[in-house]
Amino acid sequence: MKKRVFSGIQPTGDIHIGNYLAAIKHWVASQTELDSVFCIVDLHAITVPQETNVLKSKIREVTGLLLAAGIDPKLSTVFIQSHNSAHTELAWILNCFTPMGWMQRMTQFKDKLQEQKEQVSVGLFDYPALMAADILLYNTDIVPVGEDQKQHVELTRDIAQRFNSIYGETFKLPEPLIPETGARIMGLDDPTTKMSKSEAGSGHAINLLDPSDTIRAKVMQATTDSLREIRFDENRPGIYNLLVIYELFTGLSRPDIEARFERKGYVNLKQELAEIIVDSLRPLQSRYQELTADPTYLDSVLTEGSSRIRPLAEKTMTVVKEKVGLG
Ligand code: TYM
Repeated sequence: MKKRVFSGIQPTGDIHIGNYLAAIKHWVASQTELDSVFCIVDLHAITVPQETNVLKSKIREVTGLLLAAGIDPKLSTVFIQSHNSAHTELAWILNCFTPMGWMQRMTQFKDKLQEQKEQVSVGLFDYPALMAADILLYNTDIVPVGEDQKQHVELTRDIAQRFNSIYGETFKLPEPLIPETGARIMGLDDPTTKMSKSEAGSGHAINLLDPSDTIRAKVMQATTDSLREIRFDENRPGIYNLLVIYELFTGLSRPDIEARFERKGYVNLKQELAEIIVDSLRPLQSRYQELTADPTYLDSVLTEGSSRIRPLAEKTMTVVKEKVGLG
């Protein structure tokens, strides 16, 4: 039996190299050895306001990008969260076993609360319970995510453990899988904040579908520091972030990268990095154009994904409802 991997991505904003380097790239790499399930989490997306048509088109865009990046629908299952109502059903049940205090500790929620104050929705507060449902529905072993999602996967384990302690062994406890390098890619305009899909600044994130000249301009404008030496030093977040991106796209070792830029300036590093990103994304971008030329293809992948996954979720829901005494 292959171990099951489950992960999700929100169809909001523009998918960027942080999503790619920390998550999508690893999903692609492991899909031959692991039973992989990837979910486009549109119900998570609506925890903050979305425009109807934009959301609809973003769902297709993310699907196209996952496939263009190398997710193979013959090896992996790709589906839309709202196509399977078991996610919301289990989330409700898990809500009833999750203390408010656990949710209140979630740092992502606390950050959003600071930004949005009274506008913050109950859905956003409850976001981690829906994420726990996503994961627990499919007896997931491994959840490959970036650093920012680690706390949510740990909460999922806590919720599962609590349920299991009341009703006996029901849910498998999932393990988060966080990459050693690149688990937190930072914004190019401000390397002290995480690169984010929802950040408005035009120089903040490199998006997977950015044209070559946009990528070059963003890299050249990236915030660095007033020092000269090009070294992997976490205390210099701007240059460190650029070097990590360089490392992840080239696969070169840190000493090799440092040696390459010895006695060279930041402009050299930025110019070289920009070309590396442009060249690395070019095949993905052209595959994306091919795949999306036929919109029925994406829909067929998503329909097939939902029907493949639904029986697994139904099986879990039957067990859970039986244990709780529903129906
Ligand atoms: P989302 O859509 O924000 O991000 C998708 C994946 O990209 C990672 N990521 C990053 N990694 C490194 N540096 C960054 N700057 C960066 N920004 C984003 C995220 O960690 C994630 O792995 N809650 C999830 C979606 C979700 C999910 C799930 C994930 C819903 N249900 C169940 C796993 C399992 C989210 O908002 O990801």
